[in-house]
Amino acid sequence: MRDYEKIVEQLRSEVEKRYAGKPLARHILSVAEFAVEIAGSIDCNDTLLCRRVHVAALAHDLYKKFPQEELRELIRREAIPIDEFSRQAGGGLLHAPPAAHYLRTRCGVRDEETLCAVYYHTTGRPGAGLAEKILFCADYLDPSRENHASEPDLSILSKKAKTDLDAVYREVLGRKLVYTIGKGKPLHPSGIAAWNEVTGRNQSSPGAGNL
Ligand SMILES: [Fe+2]
Ligand SMILES: [Fe+2]
Repeated sequence: MRDYEKIVEQLRSEVEKRYAGKPLARHILSVAEFAVEIAGSIDCNDTLLCRRVHVAALAHDLYKKFPQEELRELIRREAIPIDEFSRQAGGGLLHAPPAAHYLRTRCGVRDEETLCAVYYHTTGRPGAGLAEKILFCADYLDPSRENHASEPDLSILSKKAKTDLDAVYREVLGRKLVYTIGKGKPLHPSGIAAWNEVTGRNQSSPGAGNL
């Protein structure tokens, strides 16, 4: 990845500028550290994978605390690609596409795996690559998360992510879907398709081509 150090520096200062002292800054930095740890455990010689997940994790929640109207305006103004379900549902589904867009337009990142990891970090998708799976799991398992009471096995899953990522990805995906169902909300089609894929029903990717 070109200009890796420069991109990391830019993202770190952007996190600082937007969320200094807030729990979200701690979450982002903690997820970044943990994602690199997972990548290193899977293959410590795979520098590209480590860089991909580092950059993706530092960017993934850059827009998390932005007001809905501001996000919608940004998506409209900059013609950020977003699927119809997310556009209509809004809420937590609006912050990932602008973050991928930021990486592409403000940092010059062209690496599809890095962009997809950010773009799909809230929903998951069938055909997810390694970097996507790592960020998806690291985001959920974030070691700095304080309330582990309802999920006492998070530290076990965190260890397992380094040795059996696919199993943990499936577990995390399932928990996120169940959580959404518990809230009485509809499930994003990408998440359903990802679940069908990991449970043995192959689906084709809804398309990650135009990031
Ligand atoms: Fe997020
Ligand atoms: Fe996050």
